[in-house]
Amino acid sequence: MNLENRKLVLIGTGFVGMSMAYTFLNTGGIDEIVLVDMNTDKTIGEAMDLSHGLPYASSRIKIKAGSYADCKDAAIVVITAGAAQKPGQTRLDLTMVNAKIMKSITESIMASGFDGILIIASNPVDLMAYVAQKVSGLPTSRVLGSGTILDTARLRTLMADYLNVSPTNVHAYMMGEHGDSSFVPWTHAYVGCKKMLELLDEQHKGLDDLHEIYRQVQQAAYEIIEKKKATYYGIGLSLNRLVRAILDDENAILTISAYQQDEYHERDLYIGVPAVINRSGVREIIRLPLNDVDQQKFFNSCKTLKENIKHIEQ
Ligand code: 2OP
Repeated sequence: MNLENRKLVLIGTGFVGMSMAYTFLNTGGIDEIVLVDMNTDKTIGEAMDLSHGLPYASSRIKIKAGSYADCKDAAIVVITAGAAQKPGQTRLDLTMVNAKIMKSITESIMASGFDGILIIASNPVDLMAYVAQKVSGLPTSRVLGSGTILDTARLRTLMADYLNVSPTNVHAYMMGEHGDSSFVPWTHAYVGCKKMLELLDEQHKGLDDLHEIYRQVQQAAYEIIEKKKATYYGIGLSLNRLVRAILDDENAILTISAYQQDEYHERDLYIGVPAVINRSGVREIIRLPLNDVDQQKFFNSCKTLKENIKHIEQ
């Protein structure tokens, strides 16, 4: 693994990929970004456009349009390529078409001699991370999906508005599938150091409000896609956060899609859980003692994903 060279390769220069790429001009944290896409003209144009912002960027970054061969010495490859949800579609509706694309992209990445960390953002992300890991043969700790990192950000944003505190002081996780069967283990939610449920009780706020906030988070992508056809800024920033947690060896706790080895009593699938992220990728999954209701929601989410894995493998 070559993490000294902070080289990032982005596969897929659509809205999501380019939103992520743009964030790095503002935050820095990488030395080089290489854009790769089937649409060569667009990719060259995107590289030109981005690089014209460099005089005003926070740090010097090499930007170029490249090819899969660039993955060879990359520290991280981020895949955002694939079909995107259209209005009325669920993420799971994309399974078969994107599994094919993911397989072929992963093969091309590995053919370069890539030996870094692979981040998958294409949907349905838990299933695509699974496909990428199986096809790449990379250690499971070095293949991760963006999972519920964005759902958690949405949750923290809405909870912060509701409670009138900074989102940085809201500690709560969306877990499970990045999709309709996600859930919030509310008993593990905190505002500062205070249990969220205790705070709500003191403020005479009801559980209905929490259900409504969960519903808004779970429906957010549908609503945005209905209104503007796609979501990209939120996921772009979430991917930036994830890449920096890896390259800066942060040991940051983020909810990402990680390979399960009985941490939550399920095996051999990828799903959104809180995990410690550092230079090795997923250092470990944080095991929350889920109550029976939440454990059941986790099992339901796994069931949905496993049924889809069966289809992919047929
Ligand atoms: C999102 O949640 C569509 O998965 C994408 O914004």
